[in-house]
Amino acid sequence: MVNKIQELKEKALKELETVNSAKELQDLKVLYLGKKGPIQELMMGMKDLSKEERPAFGQAVNEVKSFLEQKMEEARKVIEEKELALRLENEKIDITLPGFKMEQGNLHPLTLMQRELEDIFIGMGYTVEEGPEVEYDLYNFERANIPQDHPARDMQDTFYINAEKLLRTHTTAIQTRQLEAANGKLPIKMICPGKVYRRDDDDATHSHQFTQMEGLVVAENITLADLKGTLEFMAKKVLGESSKVRFRPSFFPFTEPSVEVDISCHMCGGKGCNVCKGTGWIEVLGAGMVHPDVLEMAGIDSSKCSGFAFGVGVERIAMLKYGVDDIRHFYTDDVRFLKTFNRFE
Ligand code: PHE
Repeated sequence: MVNKIQELKEKALKELETVNSAKELQDLKVLYLGKKGPIQELMMGMKDLSKEERPAFGQAVNEVKSFLEQKMEEARKVIEEKELALRLENEKIDITLPGFKMEQGNLHPLTLMQRELEDIFIGMGYTVEEGPEVEYDLYNFERANIPQDHPARDMQDTFYINAEKLLRTHTTAIQTRQLEAANGKLPIKMICPGKVYRRDDDDATHSHQFTQMEGLVVAENITLADLKGTLEFMAKKVLGESSKVRFRPSFFPFTEPSVEVDISCHMCGGKGCNVCKGTGWIEVLGAGMVHPDVLEMAGIDSSKCSGFAFGVGVERIAMLKYGVDDIRHFYTDDVRFLKTFNRFE
């Protein structure tokens, strides 16, 4: 009997040596020490022994049992340590590897430019207004003092939708709407940015769709000097403090007098370079005093008040400010171009 116990012990120890994982160890434990295992079986067999034999046998079995339990516990510790070391090795993170770069989007240069212009005028107390891109002939032309037979209505220039609707050709359409909406209530002091459309062939300086920002101020005693001061303030803010503004006589049906506005060249400071084509000045916008007929058509008494209006090309200013040489860059979505405006990099 005692031999049998000894054999069992050796066999278990041998098998324990080959155990490699916590799972195998557990299986071995169940196999030898479990309820249906050989140790238990020996215990059960004790009842067949004589009274004298029993104590010594019981003790021997118990010794083997606790011996095996202890060995298995030791093995468990070793295996667990081994397994932990293996897991740590496998799951090791190399914190010196460079991380993945998160792609950060950025605002489109035209949005940046438009927001900058808006901020400047909001700072001077202007409101920002909008209007529809599909516009009535009435607001785009009629109310802007452009009668039926005016050349600006030529099919060459305008995308008509039907006899009375078109894609607005200028933000002056928002101006005439706003004049009407004011319902005689003054002062009016607003800017109206938005897309406009013209039947132009696209080239480096023309696009069939571009962005304008109209400015409109109507109140008592508004003069051309107010217009000039306002535009000079804008020019200084956008293109630099040394910027100057000059007016040249021009014609628009909706302003009288009308002016073409030049800003001193910010590249050469007025000396003459290839950006200003040697003149020292760059033409940037059209403006003027709101034509009395335009005020009257909107129900505003032109004998009591006056106003100025201007229409600035947002792409034009952006091209000057950012040094962009082709208006098509704004629309062709070349990410290499767009990314140069990423302020986060
Ligand atoms: N609407 C004119 C244009 O598109 C610009 C302008 C606006 C001129 C307001 C005078 C006053 O060219």
